[in-house]
Amino acid sequence: MSMIIGMAGKGGTGKTTLAGLAIRYLAKVGKVPILAVDADSNANLADVLGMTYEHTLSEAREEMKSSVGNVSITKDTLIELRTQEAIVEGDDFDLVVMGQPEGSGCYCAANSILAAVLERTLNNYPYQVIDNEAGMEHISRLTARYMDIFFVVSDASRRGLTAALRIWHLVDELKIRIKHKYLIINRMRGELSEEVKGIIDKEGIDLVGVIPDDTVIYNADQKGEPTSFLDSNSSPAVTAAMEIFEKTLVES
Ligand SMILES: Nc1ncnc2c1ncn2[C@@H]1O[C@H](COP(=O)(O)OP(=O)(O)OP(=O)(O)O)[C@@H](O)[C@H]1O
Ligand SMILES: [Mg+2]
Repeated sequence: MSMIIGMAGKGGTGKTTLAGLAIRYLAKVGKVPILAVDADSNANLADVLGMTYEHTLSEAREEMKSSVGNVSITKDTLIELRTQEAIVEGDDFDLVVMGQPEGSGCYCAANSILAAVLERTLNNYPYQVIDNEAGMEHISRLTARYMDIFFVVSDASRRGLTAALRIWHLVDELKIRIKHKYLIINRMRGELSEEVKGIIDKEGIDLVGVIPDDTVIYNADQKGEPTSFLDSNSSPAVTAAMEIFEKTLVES
């Protein structure tokens, strides 16, 4: 069984950046091979990791949906081939991009074949890090129904925290099995307010760490540099993220 790590949260809170840094951490401590899964239809995990990709799993699903014939073995082989083609290989980690969500029409058959192939292929990786799309409606479409570690990423604003709380509780309602759930507050300026601390305590939320707003990350991203591999000595945010992953990803 793979160890599956997922990122979720409001738009722009740092999910993709932190998914990239979690991958860096796992690679650093030799927890490899890792599969980086970009489950955001506006895919950009590749940029953060400094990779490029050509194909997505959605393309494979579309092709399968429109292909004629009922010989399931052929479709099975086709999707397996397309899945392999979509996986970009790196040194310590590979990347697969899910792509656009379904269009109209019936995807049931295509989806069930894809799900079976994915389970076979992706479970070959002992570690998977999934970067999810922002927003509540996407949580219900989460690719993995089971996750070992689920990070909800938020900024320190009250509104940001409210959104994080909704996600925090929604995953329980949706019966996504999660072993450990943690809140990360990212892009922090100054100190957490007493009010925000009070909400976190009252809701019984496990705040695992606070990551500072860091111009090093921001500037690197603006220049199109892969932020996952920034020197941690020069970036307080990278240092803080590594501490969080050391606490949470080590023994699970
Ligand atoms: N700690 C930080 N300090 C400064 N900038 C940061 C920090 N974390 C992330 N950023 C920057 O904030 C922006 C948004 O980050 P990111 O893309 O990781 O968020 P996201 O939650 O994945 O966004 P989306 O919802 O659009 O997918 C990027 O420009 C990123 O480089
Ligand atoms: Mg993102």
